Amino acid sequence: MSVQSQKRRLSPANIEALKGERPIVSLTAYTTPIARLLDPHVDFLLVGDSVGMVLYGLDTTVGVTLEMMIAHGQAVMRGSQQACVVIDMPFGSYQESKEQAYRSAARILKETGCSAVKLEGGAEMAETVEFLVNRGIPVLGHVGLMPQLVNTTGGYRSVGRNDKEVAKIRRDAKAIDDAGAFGIVIEGTVEPVAREITAELRSPTIGIGASPACDGQILVSDDMLGLFNDFKPRFVKHFAELAPAISKAAEDYAAEVKARTFPGIEHTFQVKK
Ligand code: KIV
Repeated sequence: MSVQSQKRRLSPANIEALKGERPIVSLTAYTTPIARLLDPHVDFLLVGDSVGMVLYGLDTTVGVTLEMMIAHGQAVMRGSQQACVVIDMPFGSYQESKEQAYRSAARILKETGCSAVKLEGGAEMAETVEFLVNRGIPVLGHVGLMPQLVNTTGGYRSVGRNDKEVAKIRRDAKAIDDAGAFGIVIEGTVEPVAREITAELRSPTIGIGASPACDGQILVSDDMLGLFNDFKPRFVKHFAELAPAISKAAEDYAAEVKARTFPGIEHTFQVKK
């Protein structure tokens, strides 16, 4: 592809500027071929630490490493051209201190070429977000249900169902907004809370299980592609049914191999006479 025909990649500032203009579209991606397919349709691709559960079969995201995020980030960068690519900072790579967060985020940006990182946390992470942003690292926040806290919160439960929780999620979102994040993912909360936070913040809110009141939406791509058939959370819509399509393809392949109808003559190299 010539340099002239390449579209300019969206920046975190471009994403931020979409607030109030139109809904922001985002999906997760972890590999080059999937990034290639999703890239033309989204504003940003998130290399989420959900990669641990989606691709590696881990029970939680806690075991995901910086090296895994960098490898998948490089793969997604190779497959995308126009979307802003944001990479999740994994558990243990940023919570210890703002200096640790800077070292990890700088590695992610330098080794992948992506333009921003995402980290989970509310008021307690605001100083870190400000430290990163002031030193050239755009940050996407993540409040509400925070999967990396599964061991202290005890599970994947939506939040904002009582006054105490509502006050906390509002305080968290405002702190990360004031710290300079270019956007904030709100995961797993009720519609009135998402609506209030979205109206209060300078930066756009990106909802996952947080209602249409947010400035944008994100889903785990494997969820919306219907790759998991065992469990479908309420907030997920299957825009395709790939799990049964893949099972059927494997079943058909096995049957044809056993019946010796595959490979056929058209799939077979012959000696030219
Ligand atoms: O890791 C991830 O995929 C995420 C999204 C669910 C927002 O954080």
